[in-house]
Amino acid sequence: MTITCNADLQALARRRVPRMFYDYADSGAYTEGTYRDNTSAFEKYKLRQRVAVNIDNRTLKSEMIGREVAMPVALAPVGLTGMQHADGEIAAARAAEKFGVPFTLSTMSICSIEEVAKATTKPFWFQLYVMRDRGFIEALIKRAYDANCEALVLTLDLQILGQRHKDVKNGLSAPPKPTIANMINLAMKPRWCMGMLGTQNRTFGNIVGHAKGVDDMSSLSSWTQSQFDQSLDWSSIDWIKARWDRKLILKGINDVEDAKIAADMGADAIIVSNHGGRQLDGAAAPIDMLARIIDAVGDRVEVHMDSGIRTGQDVFKAIALGAKSTYIGRAYIYGLGAMGEAGVTKALELVQSELDTTMALCGETDITKVGRHNLLDFEEVR
Ligand code: FNR
Repeated sequence: MTITCNADLQALARRRVPRMFYDYADSGAYTEGTYRDNTSAFEKYKLRQRVAVNIDNRTLKSEMIGREVAMPVALAPVGLTGMQHADGEIAAARAAEKFGVPFTLSTMSICSIEEVAKATTKPFWFQLYVMRDRGFIEALIKRAYDANCEALVLTLDLQILGQRHKDVKNGLSAPPKPTIANMINLAMKPRWCMGMLGTQNRTFGNIVGHAKGVDDMSSLSSWTQSQFDQSLDWSSIDWIKARWDRKLILKGINDVEDAKIAADMGADAIIVSNHGGRQLDGAAAPIDMLARIIDAVGDRVEVHMDSGIRTGQDVFKAIALGAKSTYIGRAYIYGLGAMGEAGVTKALELVQSELDTTMALCGETDITKVGRHNLLDFEEVR
């Protein structure tokens, strides 16, 4: 199969990854209305096509929280990445490192912080969920620090879980339910099964063996259910800042008032995000929230954005609206499920090539100079 776009990687991942894990990635909360809107909302924004501009020397190089990046795109934290492909977190981290973009490891990863640190040479970022067991969180922050993680990405939009119907129907749990349908499906994915046989770690490496009372997969399920801290509020950020003196990024902001508070808290960056449509069904697409959030806090805090990005054209629109940078989630997860590390590299190459061509056709040569002047009738769309 000739892969020309992210949809091709998605089709291949659908074929190769067991259904329960493919569905886990390719689904949204409840009606999936917000999940669909995240991608379709990009279509409203039209670009200004400019001609007869010398576009000979172009650069996509940019910066995220002071770090130079090959293009304004990072890999978003994705739980269970190691279930899309054997050693998935390591594969994705290596692809990102070679490409020159940041990789963010999820709290809910399969490979642990230490395993990813051992397999890579440059600092990566660590995403933190705040759990009720603050002793565990304190130790987790220290582990990220000791592993030389450059930034902590604190996710704020998951104090309670939005339901994904497919996950319930597929019996996605820890450990997964061994239903007949799941067993048959696994038997039909020999490539995936063979890969998994070669891995050591098939559980949540940051948690199992580290959290109190969680020694195996069966004790993990109830722990996870009860641990997401519903009492988390803005004061928790001071608690974290007292334990983390490197860069802090607040993820899951999708409202102007919250963005103002996050900026007041002294975050280095915020990520305008609705968790890829996996949490509040009915929430606005982050691309539609971006301009007003940037207008409110863009002079005080770096604003990043994710949710719904599948192409370089999408990245270009987010940058044109004023985002300093973006993250991709599913777009690289499909690549990983399709072809492991090579698939993540392919996903990044596609985005890079599309972004470069889009920038050139808009008559721009430097991604850091792209702005609202590249959007057609911006005020009307707003
Ligand atoms: C996520 N996301 C996520 N976010 C986070 O902070 N911690 C996590 O563990 C996860 N896990 C996770 C699993 C899966 C399968 C997906 C698809 C997403 C959200 C993620 O970081 C990001 O916000 C979205 O993926 C962005 O939307 P797109 O790019 O997938 O449309």
